[in-house]
Amino acid sequence: MKVAVVHGQAHKGSTYHLTQMLLDELDCNKEDVREFNINGIGQCVGCYNCILKDESLCPHRAQMAPIIEAIDQADVIIINTPNYCMGMTGQLKSFFDHMAYRWMSHRPNGNMKNKIGVAISTTAGMGASKATKDIRNQLFWWAVGKTYQIPFAVSAFSWDQIANKKKMKLTRKVKNLGWKINQKVGYVRPGVKLRLFFQMMKKMQKGLVWNIVDHDYWEKQGWI
Ligand SMILES: Cc1cc2nc3c(=O)[nH]c(=O)nc-3n(C[C@H](O)[C@H](O)[C@H](O)COP(=O)(O)O)c2cc1C
Repeated sequence: MKVAVVHGQAHKGSTYHLTQMLLDELDCNKEDVREFNINGIGQCVGCYNCILKDESLCPHRAQMAPIIEAIDQADVIIINTPNYCMGMTGQLKSFFDHMAYRWMSHRPNGNMKNKIGVAISTTAGMGASKATKDIRNQLFWWAVGKTYQIPFAVSAFSWDQIANKKKMKLTRKVKNLGWKINQKVGYVRPGVKLRLFFQMMKKMQKGLVWNIVDHDYWEKQGWI
């Protein structure tokens, strides 16, 4: 299986280590895993070029393109973030903003429906599940067929501080999820909610042509 990992932070803390634990459980070779650090990507400037013209016109396309290519080739997309102030890191949010043109309401990639998405977050106390829920929501709008999450309260500010008992609990969780993913790869079918939303977007693209670029894309895919 091929895996794309988007790290929502540049440092190798608890969230990074938790992600590596999951990678160790997956049935894949090292060369099948592509990991990206998004810290160097400029902030979305709201130019609308991607949505209204062409994604190649994004001022940060050169930095985004290799990540998007890896995501498109992957069977499993892992996106992680430490919990910062009850949410994802600012740089991860900006990364997602750069992907707005790929939302179902614009120009989704048809292959996403057969992929698995994984949202990972650690927190000192509270808020990890808020962050993973937000990541899963983004993946849903990319039309990813199946998503999982690992929110985890580490009660620590660094990986080394985490109590052994907590690390053991984490190991069990990660092993369990790794097993599920290994079974599911190649067999993902989009659920009812995703199919319903896709139909709604289809109706929207057929009816109100408020963005001709999106409309033409849907036509070209043979969806309308
Ligand atoms: C800017 C910042 C904001 C944070 N906000 C929260 C918070 O709202 N709630 C919380 O429980 N922990 C919070 N934390 C703690 C981290 O979520 C926690 O230590 C996490 O495991 C760090 O992951 P990392 O080692 O991958 O960076 C915050 C840490 C930082 C640096």
